Order: sequence, then C-alpha cells, then structure tokens
Amino acid sequence: MFYPHEIVSEVRGLNDVVDVVAGYVKLTQKANNHFGLCPFHSEKTPSFSVNRDKQIFYCFGCGASGDVVRFIMQMENMDFPEALKLLADRVHFRLPEKGTGYEAQKTSNLRKIGAELNKRAARYYYDYLNSENSDAKEARDYLEARGVHQNLIKRFGIGLSPPIWDGLLTYLDDASREDMVAAGLALQSRKSDTRFYDRFRSRLMFPIIDQQSRVVGFGGRILHNEDKQEAKYVNTPETALFKKSEQLYGLNLARKAREKELIVVEGYMDVIAMHQHGFINTVGVLGTALNDAHVRQLRGANCTSVTLLMDSDDAGIRAALRAIPVLIKGGIKVKILDIPDAKDPDEFLTQFGSRKFANILQKAKNHIAFQIDLEKEKHDLSTTDGRVGFTQEAAKILATLPSAIEMDAYVAQVAKAAAISPAAILSEINKQQGTPERVTITPRVMRSRANRADYGLIKAQKELLHLVLTSPPAARALEKSQHILPQTMSGDIYPRLLTIAFENASRDTKLSPGDIMDLLDSPEEQQTVGEVFIDATDYTSIADMERAMTDMVKKIKLAWLDNQIETQAKMQKIDLNAVNKLHFEKKNAATLNITMRDG
Ligand code: UTP
Ligand code: MN
Repeated sequence: MFYPHEIVSEVRGLNDVVDVVAGYVKLTQKANNHFGLCPFHSEKTPSFSVNRDKQIFYCFGCGASGDVVRFIMQMENMDFPEALKLLADRVHFRLPEKGTGYEAQKTSNLRKIGAELNKRAARYYYDYLNSENSDAKEARDYLEARGVHQNLIKRFGIGLSPPIWDGLLTYLDDASREDMVAAGLALQSRKSDTRFYDRFRSRLMFPIIDQQSRVVGFGGRILHNEDKQEAKYVNTPETALFKKSEQLYGLNLARKAREKELIVVEGYMDVIAMHQHGFINTVGVLGTALNDAHVRQLRGANCTSVTLLMDSDDAGIRAALRAIPVLIKGGIKVKILDIPDAKDPDEFLTQFGSRKFANILQKAKNHIAFQIDLEKEKHDLSTTDGRVGFTQEAAKILATLPSAIEMDAYVAQVAKAAAISPAAILSEINKQQGTPERVTITPRVMRSRANRADYGLIKAQKELLHLVLTSPPAARALEKSQHILPQTMSGDIYPRLLTIAFENASRDTKLSPGDIMDLLDSPEEQQTVGEVFIDATDYTSIADMERAMTDMVKKIKLAWLDNQIETQAKMQKIDLNAVNKLHFEKKNAATLNITMRDG
C-alpha cells in the first residue's frame, strides 16, 4: 500500500459510498440498502446494492463488490492511488506527497514525470506548428485543406514535430534522458548507450488527454503519405501512463457535451472532423477493438448509449460486430451506422457536410436490426435454402433479446422478409434459448455450490465470519471454544478471513469492510468480503447472538466432520480409530454451546 492506512481511512471516511455511487448510478432506498442498476454488468432489474452503515457496494447479480475506493477504481478504470486521489480531491482533502511502498511510489512518480514531460512536449509541438518554419506552414496548409481550422487545432492541441533528431530533447534538456525514454518521447540509440533521439519527427502531433486532463501520450501522423515505407501513425508506446488499446481519443472534450449518447469512430482524424462539424459528443478508439476498458470509461462519462460509426469496409463491419457484445455486456445500448458513399466519417463530412451527416445519423440501426440486415444480405431470399438459413441466423440473434416487445416486433419483420410464419420463428428462438450457450448470471454462491445443503453451509460460514469480523469479543469467544479453526472453513478465502478475525480480536481493533479488503489481494477475495457484509444479520441481544453463533458453529463443525469421515471412508486402509474419534466428536458437536462470557 502506497498511502499509510490512516490516510486511506480518512479519505474513505470523508466520502460516503452512497453519495459517491449516486453520482454514477440512480439509487432507491429499500430497507437498509440502496438499490440501482449495476454499472458493471448489464441488467434490467436492480441487483446492485450500496450500504451506508457498512460503506460497501455489492451486486447480487455479478458479485462486484468493494468499498468506495474500489468503486472508483472500477468505474474510472484507475489504480488505487489514483482513485484515492480522486476521492481526496472530491472533498478537498490534501494527500501527503510522500509515502512508503517503493514500487507503487516509483510507478506513480513515473506517471507524474511522464505527464509533466508530455505536457511540455505538447506545448513544444503546438508552438512549432504555429511557427514561421516552412514545414510548419506546409503542415498548417495541409490541415486547412482537410478542413481542420485554427480553433480545432487549438481545442485539440494539435502540433508538429520538427524534422530533426533532437528537437524535443534539446527543448527539454533539463529532463533526464531516462525519463524521456520512459515517457515514450525519446529513444536510445542502439549503437551507443549515451545517444538519444526524438521518437517523433516530422509528424502532425495529436496529444491524447485522459479524464484527469493529463497528456498521456501522442499519435503522430506522417505528413506525406506517399512514402509507404513508414507507418502512417507513430504512437506513444506502452508507458506507465499510456495504453493505446484503452484510450478513447477526445473523451475529455466529448464529456463536456454532457450527453448520455456518444458516437464512437475509428481514429484521430475522424474524431477531429466530427468535432469540427459540431458533433462534439464523439470519441475515437485508436486502431484497436473496442474493449471492456473503453466501456468502463464510457460509463464513467455517464454514457448509456453508443452509436458506432465504423469505416465502411469489411474490417469496419467486423469491428462493429465484435464491439456489440462488449457494449451490451457493459449495459450500453448500441446503434450502428454504416456510412454510405464514403470510406469514413471524415470523408463523408468533407464531401457532403454536416446537415447530410445529421440525416444519416438518424438512420443508425439498433444492433439487432444491423445484425439481421447483415444476415439478410448473406442469404439469397429467393431460394428456400436461403430463407431457412436466414431465419435460423436471425433467430440466434433474436434469442439474445431480453424484451418480449422488441422480440415481437423483430419476429414480425423477419417473418415478412423470409415469408415464414412468426410462430415457426418463435419456436426456433425458443430452441436457441434452451441451448446452454446462453449466458445467464446467477449469484456466485449458487453457481459454485449447486445443492441446498451447501448453500446453507456457505450462509452459516458467511454469517459467522461477519459476526467475528465485526465483534472482537465474539471472535475471542469462538477462538477460545476451539470448535472452529480456520481450516474448518471451506474454500481458500473463508479460512483466510477467519484468521484475520482472530488476529484482529487479539489486538482488539475493529476493522471496516474496506480495511479488510485492503488486507486481501485478489478481487475474488474482496468480493467475498462484500458477500459477507452486505446482507448480514444484526443482533439485538447478547443471547440472540450466542444462540445464532452456536447454531452456525454446529452446522459448520458437523459438515466438516462429515467431510472428514467421508474422506476416511474413501481411503484404501480405513483408520477405524480415527473414524471412531470423528463420530465421537460429532456427538459432542450436537450439544456444543458458545457463550460470550469466554470473549
Ligand atoms: P486510419 O488509417 O483510418 O487513419 O486509421 P485516420 O485517422 O482516418 O487518418 P487519415 O484520415 O488517413 O489522416 C485509424 C486509426 O488507426 C490507428 C490510428 O489511431 C488511426 O487514427 N492507426 C492507423 C495507427 O495507430 N497506426 C497506423 O499506422 C495506422
Ligand atoms: Mn481517415
């Protein structure tokens, strides 16, 4: 951990999880929990709950869980220190500069230095583009000819790298060469350890700015495309700050449109052209497939619906088809626009203007219609085989629809196009839905443990863990009773949690769920903490608590003993002594009693 525990606790304490989540998810209160639609998976009925007393969120659908810091990490796609910083800023809390944790500190420093160097580099490229040099003038003419005017150059901070090997290195001569390389701005000569040169030369420079307004990297477009020897774009490589496959170009600007519906295009020039023509709710993926990291950022910008404007070639269609499930899974509605008569949005806008573009934008098809139309084109509907093939493919697509109304409307369309009865299509869809391929989300516990007995056991273990994690006296009473040891609990995570509860009780500290999550490494472990805390019973009296504890301990102990007996029975040579002892313990367990006096 990079920040000391007290600081993390303080920031957490100042940011109520319900208030923070409410900034992203619409919540309604039901009993002790606030419920809303889960931002981490797609759903129609709210199973995402936030609890003010326990300061955690937990999704009964997908199991996502955590405290306020983890919510921000997942929502904003940040690491722990970044999320903590966002929350600290939210309440005007000043985080200390120095911390422990060497590695985390190092990456964080690299990011900080990188962002600073990138910012200064962007300034340098911008000034160079606006200089009197002949190549700068030529570049400005090029942009002008492509319809990128001065206001847009300024808004996007577009620049130009000079045609020399050390322009930026000389300009930033106070920065260490190693930092320049780590930031992706310079390269080390292969021939000599002491020679460095600029990564970007003679290229139009597009700074990539993240949601925290940092310049995280650059795309550099070659000015004269005739020479195909060189790549059209050179991008910042992977650095501590930059992952090309996760960036959405222009999101920092598009966010300001405050629209729930964003347009996604492929590439720098398309984003710029869209903004130039007034479609400022446009962002771009940088030559990679749209993925979960993109979706998280879209959601973070409160986007609920996306129109994909893919290049109108096979690659563009493939990209759209791959993007659809990713967006749907992320709970974002998808529309797709196949741009007619032009290879990409930029070309269309330049040729036909924004009015025409607004018209075709209206015709974007929702993802179901888009996929069905693609299938229609693939089959020859004048033949019986073609009609059957088309209907089968269409049924597969329709089987994914959660709404009966939508289903009905599409079935009618397909029926008409294929001249096949709606009833036959519906029965085909039913068949599709029956196949196991279909993904449904069931709570984790149900998934991993099929039968009821196991479910009861898991529930007992969770409730017991909650009790001992929140009440040091209860933990001490349990430990002293010696009925349950960490290894009596099932799985890997419950034993770990019980150990934490025991250690904690001996120090007599009270841990919040967030504190406990900090002690665990994997998301699965943290998720279990969420499960343990979210729905736990609160006891009104000591007697109540003792009774419940005794019940749970019995159940867990008996299950463990049965398991041991079963294991013995499966052995080649059964140890009768051991088995007898286990049966004796079972008898004892039936009458055991836990009292808080022991705590
Ligand atoms: P395009 O070739 O469509 O570029 O690549 P563009 O943005 O439309 O540029 P113009 O109109 O030719 O000037 C789409 C995106 O793919 C990435 C870039 O992000 C680019 O914007 N790309 C493309 C690369 O990273 N490297 C390349 O060599 C080519
Ligand atoms: Mn283009």
